[in-house]
Amino acid sequence: MIGKLGLTKPIFRFMDNQNQNHDHHSGLLHYSIPDKETSMQVTLSVNGQQYQLTIDPGVSLLDALREYIGLTGTKKGCDHGQCGACTVLVDGKRINSCLTLAVMKQGTEITTIEGLAKGNDLHPMQKAFIEHDAFQCGYCTPGQICSAVALLEEGKAHSRAEISELMSGNICRCGAYSNIVDAIEHVKKSKQ
Ligand code: FES
Ligand code: FES
Repeated sequence: MIGKLGLTKPIFRFMDNQNQNHDHHSGLLHYSIPDKETSMQVTLSVNGQQYQLTIDPGVSLLDALREYIGLTGTKKGCDHGQCGACTVLVDGKRINSCLTLAVMKQGTEITTIEGLAKGNDLHPMQKAFIEHDAFQCGYCTPGQICSAVALLEEGKAHSRAEISELMSGNICRCGAYSNIVDAIEHVKKSKQ
């Protein structure tokens, strides 16, 4: 019914919050929306937490994270796979979450920018971005950091030029590229 009325995503989120229950026995967070006709049950594992969602099969992973689960660290830029702002890790590999349906990622481990730090201890890539002043407005930064973490795991970037090339899917409209490469190079060297 809600989808048919064409209500917007923020209203979905409001209604999700109203329909959110926490099962203290299983540790599962349950989310649901009233439209049972078109929705389906999906369980996503995000940052080590299981989330059970009732969503339309056409919902992107990006919207599931932001609008249903409430993890807004992952950003929506173009929503068309062209900017990299929505980059998250799926089983350690970087993907554009705007191009992926949430239902396709059941059974995987999804890591967002919120899941990189260990408590108050920031991930080395997060620390390096701060130390190297690798952002201005910060909108692209969660995607840049997730992408950079996966990049170093891929082991294909052996020079500044290769880092730049292999990070080219992550656009920074503030033009912080030089400092972003500095930060990634710093972490790369510290791992050697
Ligand atoms: Fe996904 Fe731009 S929002 S690539
Ligand atoms: Fe502003 Fe990258 S820091 S878009």
